[in-house]
Amino acid sequence: MVAKRFYHCTVSEKLLYTCFLLLVGLGYLMATAYLFVTHVNNDGKPGLSITDVANSYYGNRSGTRLEAAIRGTMAGNISDDDRGIMVAWLKDGAEEEHFAHDIKPILDKTCLACHTKEAGMNLPDFSTYEGLHKYAEVDTGMSMASLLKLSHIHLFGISLLLFMIGFIFIQCEINVYFKRFLVVSPMFAVFVDVLSWFLTKWDSHYAMVVVAAGALLGFSMAAQMLISLYQIWFLKKPAEQA
Ligand code: HEC
Repeated sequence: MVAKRFYHCTVSEKLLYTCFLLLVGLGYLMATAYLFVTHVNNDGKPGLSITDVANSYYGNRSGTRLEAAIRGTMAGNISDDDRGIMVAWLKDGAEEEHFAHDIKPILDKTCLACHTKEAGMNLPDFSTYEGLHKYAEVDTGMSMASLLKLSHIHLFGISLLLFMIGFIFIQCEINVYFKRFLVVSPMFAVFVDVLSWFLTKWDSHYAMVVVAAGALLGFSMAAQMLISLYQIWFLKKPAEQA
């Protein structure tokens, strides 16, 4: 039996494949852009870096968001002495017993002008210990629950997508070993990618693997789609099979 090739397809099939591949391609670009805008500022420096990736899964365990804020964007609202007191409190474990005596007066001075519900600026409310405490915990990255949620959505969604792209792609005319590689590699990459999120939560060095798997996925998907799009419309039926 002669395997089915793109030149055996009806025009309706070709149109269906083409529209699907173009929409998925657009989706891929959107996903990349989304990744960029959501991860780019994790480490507070412009540009997407390995640290950005590590921070989102492992967290930035060198400090709390509160400390980052009073040293960074909120630095102008606090005196050096008060900052020292607050940082010492944070390093001490940010316990409630010292809150009322040491911390509340500092907050009252300036922070609460903006950081209460009444201020109406839709900012985190620091008028209570509970409100402040959320920002006084060490950032350990994405929670296990959101990691699991993201993983299963990714595994179900992307594998289905890759199945359909691969189903189209296997109708192309190309070296069979390269074809098999391109069919398996993105699936493998998704598996390694998801696995490496969990590894990165445990040890930030695995952020490298997240990036490498993402690159392999992107390469294989793009190759399958571009080869397919080209051959759907431009590959002629060989003369001897005509
Ligand atoms: C003039 C109003 C104003 C004052 C005063 C102010 N803040 Fe803010 N704060 C903001 C705004 C606006 C944001 C959100 C935008 C941003 O993160 O820069 C914010 C965000 C924050 C955040 C969240 C940062 C994050 O990780 O998302 C923290 C923590 C914070 N402020 C702490 C403080 C502390 C502590 C003080 C007092 C020393 C203070 N702020 C005083 C306006 C203010």
